[in-house]
Amino acid sequence: MNTTNPVLELKNVNKSFGPIDVLHDISLKVHAGEVLCLLGDNGAGKSTLIKTLAGVHKPTSGQMLMDGEEVSFDCPKDAASRGISTVHQFGGTFPLMTIGRSFFVGVEPTKKFGPFTIFDRKTANETAVKAVKEFGITRIDDGDRLIGGLSGGERQSLAIARAVHFGARVLILDEPTAALGVKEATHVLRIVFEARKRGLAVIFITHQVMHAMTVGDHFAVLIRGALAADFRKGEKTREEITDLMAGGEAMADLEGEIESYMSAHEGHPPPPAH
Ligand SMILES: Nc1ncnc2c1ncn2[C@@H]1O[C@H](COP(=O)(O)OP(=O)(O)O)[C@@H](O)[C@H]1O
Ligand SMILES: [Mg+2]
Repeated sequence: MNTTNPVLELKNVNKSFGPIDVLHDISLKVHAGEVLCLLGDNGAGKSTLIKTLAGVHKPTSGQMLMDGEEVSFDCPKDAASRGISTVHQFGGTFPLMTIGRSFFVGVEPTKKFGPFTIFDRKTANETAVKAVKEFGITRIDDGDRLIGGLSGGERQSLAIARAVHFGARVLILDEPTAALGVKEATHVLRIVFEARKRGLAVIFITHQVMHAMTVGDHFAVLIRGALAADFRKGEKTREEITDLMAGGEAMADLEGEIESYMSAHEGHPPPPAH
């Protein structure tokens, strides 16, 4: 059990959009050096919850605390200035921008050139490549390459390395592995683990139980906007977690149906479709 103060804490947070209640009474603690996996089916409220943490939405009621002190964010910049960094699916970067450029969007390193201040491409490229290398990403070796030429996993990894480089304390990843193949997803999970090793509090949103179980220390399951379960690594099996998520029962029913079909048809394969 982690006894240090949580970096981020939610106390009885509710969020409604007009008459629509999306989040119900969410209380949750996020610690440094831990990966909190936020699990839930589509529409459960995962994105709404992290947008509330990241200053996109204001909670309708309830409290948010950082290092034990109540905080309130008027916009994403407020949250970012407190070290809350969100990486969106696909890395949120621009395909036609170079790696060096995109790494420094909003924080461009400049140098004096006569009376002008210009973007320092060489320093930007070197810094970006060095930062990703420290994360064990060796395939990104040229800051002049375009973002559009990177794979989905590489973009995610670059975005995570960037957030860590600029001092993120809470790293929020909204379904970073959802659109990736097995190899690429593994790569991104490795980068998530790297961020954890560097002492960040990572909030990893996914509906893929296997991905969550690989890197997660702490798990929260959202069902229709409410916390259905909050547990730590080793406390539940993969089957139990799947069952907790909406759809788990339906999946078990289907498995049962397939099993009985198979045993009924053993030795009598069904005829080919055509
Ligand atoms: N701005 C909004 N206005 C009204 N309803 C919203 C808004 N944003 C999300 N919702 C609703 O909240 C629910 C949860 O959505 P979301 O947080 O995107 O879920 P998830 O990320 O888990 O798939 C959905 O029913 C969605 O339609
Ligand atoms: Mg979502």
